[in-house]
Amino acid sequence: MAKPVSIEKILFSQGFGTRRYCSDLVYADLVKVNGLLVEDPEERIATEGLILNVEGKDWEYHEKAYIAFNKPPNYECSHKTTHHPSVYSLLPAPFVERGLQCIGRLDYDTTGLLLISDDGQFIHKMTTPKKNIGKVYEITTPDPMTPSQIEHLLNGVILDDDPRPCYATACKQVSDHILAMTIVEGRYHQVKRMIAAVGNHVNQLHRAAIGAYVMPQDLAEGQWRWLGSEDLKHLSQSVGAQ
Ligand code: URA
Repeated sequence: MAKPVSIEKILFSQGFGTRRYCSDLVYADLVKVNGLLVEDPEERIATEGLILNVEGKDWEYHEKAYIAFNKPPNYECSHKTTHHPSVYSLLPAPFVERGLQCIGRLDYDTTGLLLISDDGQFIHKMTTPKKNIGKVYEITTPDPMTPSQIEHLLNGVILDDDPRPCYATACKQVSDHILAMTIVEGRYHQVKRMIAAVGNHVNQLHRAAIGAYVMPQDLAEGQWRWLGSEDLKHLSQSVGAQ
């Protein structure tokens, strides 16, 4: 069992502001722990299963944050954006304050599954190309993909900036105009460039899964949720599994 920690440190670790600000939140009677008001910022609290309430909003304590987010179109995956608002503007402020980062980026017009975390080791494990984690994209094309285009994707496509071929590790025709394609790398605009290289075009792009984690059907666009320990276990098992 983890050692109890002062409520001020807990609030700071969760992204509620500077240590000073967190202690002022307590003095202003704005913090409850498991439903009870805390009065002393130095009060030590057990973190297991802890539910905070800060300024009237419930907040689950998580030592490290691991979340799934359903990215809507027209948002950029960076903090300093150029033409569109940032996906971080759709997340609670404490997530940004505690430094959550997208695990791999999606283009501004791509929708779907983004994993977001503040655990550097986890981010590294999920993004290093050596780990071969499969990402499934649903690609809407103006013309149905032909069998020879699909074969070309599976046999490897050369993109203009790199002599090493890019492969689809799986392709499944979902409907006439939608192909589900799995890739393990994350090169710049990789899916759009692969589809262009075989003579078709991407009208819409949606990421449906990362490793064994499939976008939950009830996670609406713009919504996020905590990943549970089972989700994290499945994701870890996906690493190196292709
Ligand atoms: N490949 C692309 O071309 N765009 C994305 O957003 C993700 C993968």
